[in-house]
Amino acid sequence: MTEIQIAPSLLAADKMQLGALVSDLEDHIDVLHIDVMDGHFVPNISFGPSVVECLRPLTQKPIDVHLMVERPELWVTAYRDAGADWISVHVEATYHLERTLAVIRESGARAGVALNPGTGPEGLEFVLKNGDFVLVMTVNPGFGGQSFIEASYRKIAAIRAYLDVHELTDVEVQVDGGVGPSTAAGCAEAGASILVAGSAITGAADPAAAASNLREAATAGSTD
Ligand code: DX5
Ligand code: ZN
Repeated sequence: MTEIQIAPSLLAADKMQLGALVSDLEDHIDVLHIDVMDGHFVPNISFGPSVVECLRPLTQKPIDVHLMVERPELWVTAYRDAGADWISVHVEATYHLERTLAVIRESGARAGVALNPGTGPEGLEFVLKNGDFVLVMTVNPGFGGQSFIEASYRKIAAIRAYLDVHELTDVEVQVDGGVGPSTAAGCAEAGASILVAGSAITGAADPAAAASNLREAATAGSTD
């Protein structure tokens, strides 16, 4: 059975309580997802490297930094130095994806390629020797609390098949946007193994319980 990893996004959290939230989630999650937005690539601004640095000592879990910024290659070192273990960049935001992934890998972090809803996997086979996961955006990036784009189930399955056909079976599929108890099983069934959830976990009244519920819902859809 595919191991499901639960990755809460801090975007939906009460920012005054981030430290307490991270401690509360520690035993219920696999990865901590931090959304970085620059006000250019996406119409919102969020967390800088100093936030990652503050949270780093509070968790043993990998910190997954999702860079929704233009020219993400300029920020790899700053976020890695702050404590990021995984770093993903958008294919739409960097001119030289292969080089950017290599820089992330050379820094010692796991490297992810993020795809907006309208972007397909074409070309990824040529660069993913330096990649660990593909982040399939299941909403348009920039904000939490949006509805899951239904066509994403087909897209997740297509990306999983593409990776397998190109002998990239170790590259994982991460999904992000509108993931909750009602969409998690479908995502897992389609081939996603890392589930990012903001409102469904960090926006819930009991985030730790919500994380566990999401894992149960996803595991029901997980195959092989
Ligand atoms: C959106 C971010 C997501 C966001 C998801 O641009 O990349 O990580 O926090 O939030 P929900 O789960 O509320 O859609
Ligand atoms: Zn994200």
